[in-house]
Amino acid sequence: MLRSNYCGEVNLKQLGQEVNLSGWVNTWRDHGGVIFIDLRDRTGVVQLVFNPTTNKEVHAVAQSVRDEYVLNIKGIVEHRPEGTVNKNLSTGEIEIKVSSIEILNPSKALPFQIRDDINVAEEVRLQYRYLDLRRPKMFKNFNMRHKVSFLVRDYLDKQGFLEVETPILFKTTPEGARDYLVPSRVNPGEFYALPQSPQMLKQTLMISGFDKYFQIAKCFRDEDLRADRQPEFTQIDIEMSYISEEDIITLTEGLVSYVFKNALGRDIGAPFTRLTYEAAMDQYGTDKPDLRFALPLVNITEIAKNAEYKIFASIAAAGGIIKGLNAKKCGTFSRMEIDNLIEFVKTIGAKGMSWFKVENGKLESNLSKFFSEEIKTEMMKAFKAEEGDLILIIADKPAGANQALDHLRRHLGEKLSLIDKDKFVFEWVLEFPLFGWNEEEKRFDAMHHPFTSPKPEDMQYFDKEPGKMKARAYDLVLNGTELGGGSIRIHTRKIQEMMFKAIGITDEQAKDRFGFLLDAFEFGTPPHGGIAFGLDRLLMLMLKEGSLRDVIAFPKTQKAQCPLSGAPSFAEEKQLRDLHIKVVELPKKEDKNTEQV
Ligand code: AMO
Repeated sequence: MLRSNYCGEVNLKQLGQEVNLSGWVNTWRDHGGVIFIDLRDRTGVVQLVFNPTTNKEVHAVAQSVRDEYVLNIKGIVEHRPEGTVNKNLSTGEIEIKVSSIEILNPSKALPFQIRDDINVAEEVRLQYRYLDLRRPKMFKNFNMRHKVSFLVRDYLDKQGFLEVETPILFKTTPEGARDYLVPSRVNPGEFYALPQSPQMLKQTLMISGFDKYFQIAKCFRDEDLRADRQPEFTQIDIEMSYISEEDIITLTEGLVSYVFKNALGRDIGAPFTRLTYEAAMDQYGTDKPDLRFALPLVNITEIAKNAEYKIFASIAAAGGIIKGLNAKKCGTFSRMEIDNLIEFVKTIGAKGMSWFKVENGKLESNLSKFFSEEIKTEMMKAFKAEEGDLILIIADKPAGANQALDHLRRHLGEKLSLIDKDKFVFEWVLEFPLFGWNEEEKRFDAMHHPFTSPKPEDMQYFDKEPGKMKARAYDLVLNGTELGGGSIRIHTRKIQEMMFKAIGITDEQAKDRFGFLLDAFEFGTPPHGGIAFGLDRLLMLMLKEGSLRDVIAFPKTQKAQCPLSGAPSFAEEKQLRDLHIKVVELPKKEDKNTEQV
């Protein structure tokens, strides 16, 4: 081994001893002939001293090194001279008087400095990811990733779970994204699909009697990417037999509490708040509200539809809603600030936004004349409006109004510094509808995935009013990000077939895609349920990073590319021939699945 100690771990305990260290040249300084090098490895830096009067040859080699050269040195650990101690460094009280040095490998000039506070385009960071990962912050992040995975395994092992690996080459999984397909060489024209999640296989393991399964599983989804979405990501995937929603909720709260306590030393206050889907949409306009701050939405349709303001009346008459929020004490906002907020909601798809300031106990705005005193008083009451407040109102179809107000609420939360960034606030969202209406295809979609069990009391609506049905599903939300989701599953062939039918999957398609699971349901399937969390998302939030890319070693860019390797890339003609594939250019068609916001 080319070292006796890690750089960041040398301290007063080794005083007077010889140590053998290896690492990178982090910084190089010449102070009146004496050279100081900070040598760095994954644990930190240590100061090396090269004095020409004590060792000329060694000093001459030190003279020739540059940033990121890899060195192996031997030297004696000494106290730093009075006045040069650095209390902020674990090695700040010592330095190494170097007696031998070997350059193990030089380095070219760097495309960017190995420092935490670099300001470099992400594309460049990812192209030189091996350098980017040398930064101390990245070591901290990946230490945490290791620790969290370890704690998850530890906790679940103690609860009697078995970790089982499921295949990567598999069939389509209906999690709502497009599949990544892999052509089969030995079965011409046939494709594997990379799993969007291990959903069907973890259910199969319940049918096999594994009873308590988990896996830290790779999942693949070809969907539009954003800061909290990667095409290839990792789930902590869990499934259990003979359970109810409460069992999963208790297990999850225990697991997450254990991880936060042991990885961050934080108590996160389980049991978590519970919200129904309806209440979440009503109060926050989203099914994943950030509860670190209040700023609730208020539905004033019943009050405001009676005003003489035609736009409100016609939107309400067409089934729309009139909804808004009270930005406390923002009555001082200038016209320009309000116009900027209006522009902001327009980027989210709102057609416009109305506003009122509370002045002299009354709602005032350019629209005041269209609102009777009585209606204004009712509105003030609904918004709990006080002197100096600013009321912002959007009237639109429910989905559009909620979406814009959710964004506005979060935007104001930031702008008004209402969010305590140190907090971790979890909540459960329950009672999801079983189906969501797919306007484009004029049919229902499963709101979670089609293996989610309906509430037994809603079975009566299956044929005629599926939109009324609720699911036995639950989502875990942390600081406004969906961290995990799951459900109690359907475990009979009959109900599963009804579910497929309701979402427009024909018997033939069901047999082809999910036939094995339908068949398996007929061989004594225990009732079961589970949950999956995004491990990457969990880490992103624990580490307060803004993107999953800072917690995934080799992530993809927004365009699903890997700048390091150049993947994806064109295949060679021979490879394609082996796979019976011919690449042809098709006329471009509009991508209907492109997400709006
Ligand atoms: P779901 O699709 O909700 O459920 O996924 C569970 C969790 O996985 C994470 N996640 C992602 N993370 C990063 N990039 C992505 N593209 C991405 N997509 C999802 C999220 C999400 O909450 N089989 C079900 C779970 C179950 O029912 O047990 C499933 O996959 O944190």
